[in-house]
Amino acid sequence: MYMAMGGLKCVAFLVMVASASQLAEAQVLGLLNLINISGLVSCSLNGNIIPNAATPTPPFPNALVEVSCGGNVISSALTNGAGVFNMVLNPLQFLLNNLLSSNCNVRVVTPLSNCNATLPSTGILQSPLQLIGTTAQGLFSVFNLVPVTFRLIGI
Ligand SMILES: *[C@@H]1O[C@H](CO)[C@@H](O)[C@H](O)[C@H]1NC(C)=O
Ligand SMILES: *[C@@H]1O[C@H](CO)[C@@H](O)[C@H](O)[C@H]1NC(C)=O
Repeated sequence: MYMAMGGLKCVAFLVMVASASQLAEAQVLGLLNLINISGLVSCSLNGNIIPNAATPTPPFPNALVEVSCGGNVISSALTNGAGVFNMVLNPLQFLLNNLLSSNCNVRVVTPLSNCNATLPSTGILQSPLQLIGTTAQGLFSVFNLVPVTFRLIGI
């Protein structure tokens, strides 16, 4: 009986070792990682908060935000009422290093004039992406990416 229990414990231990190494393998492959791209778009000439303004810079709601790599849109989202957008990508499909390279950009394609008629109706806000940190969410490692800073281009 004692021997049988010992044997069972041994099997249980082996199963645990196996699943732990499978977990490590999955992490190497990126199965348990997520890329979380988020940011704030403000209703100003460069899409950023105006520093030291007398009144807070208003947000840019309902703006179409696209992540584009080598001219191909890989993901898109609308900003909410607070000007905040969020997209979650699977790193198996999108390489983190590529997203952080100059090959990829985050773009606000809705004209600025949509949030304020005195702002330009042509051009798009564009920014490269940067990694600001990694957070754990359950079994997932979440890579948090945000725009560096928006610039209005193509006016
Ligand atoms: C992504 O980041 C945003 C902003 O920090 C956060 O609200 C959201 O919960 C994050 N999503 C995941 C899946 O981590
Ligand atoms: C609209 O933009 C103009 C020019 O940047 C600015 O002076 C004005 O305060 C803005 N209006 C609102 C409601 O934000």
